[in-house]
Amino acid sequence: PNSTLQGFRASFLDAIADPFYMPESECIRYFGDGLLIVEDGKVKEIGNYADLQAKYAEVDIADYRDRLIVSGFIDTHIHFPQTEMIASYGEQLLEWLSTYTFPTERKFSDRQYAADIAEIFLDELLRNGTTTALVFTTVFPQSTDAFFEAAQRRNLRMIAGKVLMDCHAPDYLTDTATSSYTETKQLIEKWHKCDRLLYAVTPRFAVTSSSEQLSVAGRLLQEFPDVYLHTHLSENVKEVAYIAEAFPESKGYLDVYDQAGLVGERSIFAHGVQLTDQEFARLAETKSAIAFCPTSNMFLGSGLFKIEKAKSVETPIKVGLGTDVGAGTSFSILRTACAAYQVAQLRSQKLSPFQALFLATLGGARALCLEDQLGNFETGKEADFVVLNPRSTAIMALRNQLFNSNHPLTLPEVADQLFATLIMGDDRAIAATYIMGELVKFNQ
Ligand code: GUN
Ligand code: ZN
Repeated sequence: PNSTLQGFRASFLDAIADPFYMPESECIRYFGDGLLIVEDGKVKEIGNYADLQAKYAEVDIADYRDRLIVSGFIDTHIHFPQTEMIASYGEQLLEWLSTYTFPTERKFSDRQYAADIAEIFLDELLRNGTTTALVFTTVFPQSTDAFFEAAQRRNLRMIAGKVLMDCHAPDYLTDTATSSYTETKQLIEKWHKCDRLLYAVTPRFAVTSSSEQLSVAGRLLQEFPDVYLHTHLSENVKEVAYIAEAFPESKGYLDVYDQAGLVGERSIFAHGVQLTDQEFARLAETKSAIAFCPTSNMFLGSGLFKIEKAKSVETPIKVGLGTDVGAGTSFSILRTACAAYQVAQLRSQKLSPFQALFLATLGGARALCLEDQLGNFETGKEADFVVLNPRSTAIMALRNQLFNSNHPLTLPEVADQLFATLIMGDDRAIAATYIMGELVKFNQ
């Protein structure tokens, strides 16, 4: 009779509110010996094993008692075609784009090539515990099709879009205002809300889109009000200076997007390293989101994102973590959280382990307007989750000695063991990844 129910016994940790604004004890739930019940791929119930065990005595239970289960990680900014060019040497943003990125993305006019890389990319995300991502494809609509097809086969909740770029890039990698409109519209009609997939209108950045093309993006958002807007914003000093020159009538970088109607609740802007106070205020006012991409911002020498401004009481902005691979140096949200902590330290700010967990899960879900579906173990949410092994290496086993099945931890102890896992962990700490309650299997 209970054939659709699945049980998972483990330690569970999730964020149910924003610890940048509320006491952590009210934001974080921890079940030292917990039971998660999944029904038809969604969370039915979570609680203490001792309290729920009798009610679900008939249900098959997977035993992860020496593991910590958290909600699936959410990567709010990544480029699937840049998978193969991660760790390309020596350049900052604009030179890095022309030297490495554009020639690599050129290959994605070949649909089969795009399909092959999409498989490698999704394997790598899932191996790192990332279950949802907001993804750049390329200017070629066939690369967007290939990505969505691969994600659909795995039943993933992914957001992606064809890149719009009609100037200041090689001819082989540009579209036009007109073609980008037609191709994007077709892709939205084909993919938006198809199974778990969602569409983002994706102008690369204001450097490579004419104001005519930015207006096209705005028109698409008006015609399809529940698709997303995904772009780059104020990443690099030279880029910002170029925008000031190219758009002299605008008040600043964000204003270029604002004038095209691209700034709103479903807009996600990657980076924001160089934002002004007025721009932080405008992002807060419009309920826009920022993808904080610390490994990328350090790798390209872009700078240190002001997390305390984005998460201030005066200008509260939705923020998620982004790996930004291939400028980012790892697919791992654990590695990204470690880098976010280091960026905060370099600015004499603190990023607590629970704040980092929030950014990686519920904060990311909120940035993507998916908090009704994802981000924690509330009843009815989709059961995408990660089984962490906080003792996955010899040194982590030594450091995380408290984490064993002999006794439940206090919240400060959980914070300490989680912190060490974020700082030291990588894909080896991901013991398993589940999508809609199903264990992800890899071919290799
Ligand atoms: N700005 C415009 N395009 C890109 C890109 O591909 N990567 C990064 N990091 N910034 C960008
Ligand atoms: Zn990027």
